[in-house]
Amino acid sequence: MKFFVDTADVSEISAMAQTGLLDGVTTNPSLIAKSGRKMAEVIAEICALTTGPVSAEVTATDYETMLAEGRYLRGIATNVCVKVPLTEAGLRTCRALADDGTLVNVTLCFSAVQALLAAKAGAAFISPFVGRLDDIGQDGMTLIADIVQIYRNYGFATEILVASGRHPVHVLAAAKLGAHVATMAPSTIRALFKHPLTERGLEAFLADWKKTGQSIL
Ligand code: G3P
Repeated sequence: MKFFVDTADVSEISAMAQTGLLDGVTTNPSLIAKSGRKMAEVIAEICALTTGPVSAEVTATDYETMLAEGRYLRGIATNVCVKVPLTEAGLRTCRALADDGTLVNVTLCFSAVQALLAAKAGAAFISPFVGRLDDIGQDGMTLIADIVQIYRNYGFATEILVASGRHPVHVLAAAKLGAHVATMAPSTIRALFKHPLTERGLEAFLADWKKTGQSIL
């Protein structure tokens, strides 16, 4: 399973890249706004920190302007993945960019039939938002299970990128279902490392080791 980090904070991405566990980055207009930086500048910096795909989202809503924005964004670096919303114009843009060899991430997916359309439009990634579905009392993971089944039925190459994951249980459930990618806030990735028994066990080992008076080096 690939791990992407969902942020436009360059220092956080740099720290995540150092773990050796980072496979890519996702951003969205809200995350770019939160960074307070110019989009082209921050995307270029992020692309230099990872060889994996870096999602940069268009902000137009009509096909012609979305396509122009997508072409501009993919020119920033070879690992830019253009993100488009799951609308009719967005999927038309997806098809045009995919036919030119551009990686496209179709975002704001909330139903399995939307995911089916994105795969047919040649998306490299589909981003179902599990946390936002949970927020309104629907089960985000049921959507992931449905998409996994549909994509398997037809052999689609589109990768399922579980987005809006809020905690380690989302990552566990997505991995059990065989989703290809999970994108997470840096705090969620850090939470994956943690277990109270690991901490308690390490404390005990170190206390016993100290009693020996030895040192390995
Ligand atoms: O980048 C898309 C998605 O991961 C956003 O998550 O937490 O704003 O619902 P969230």
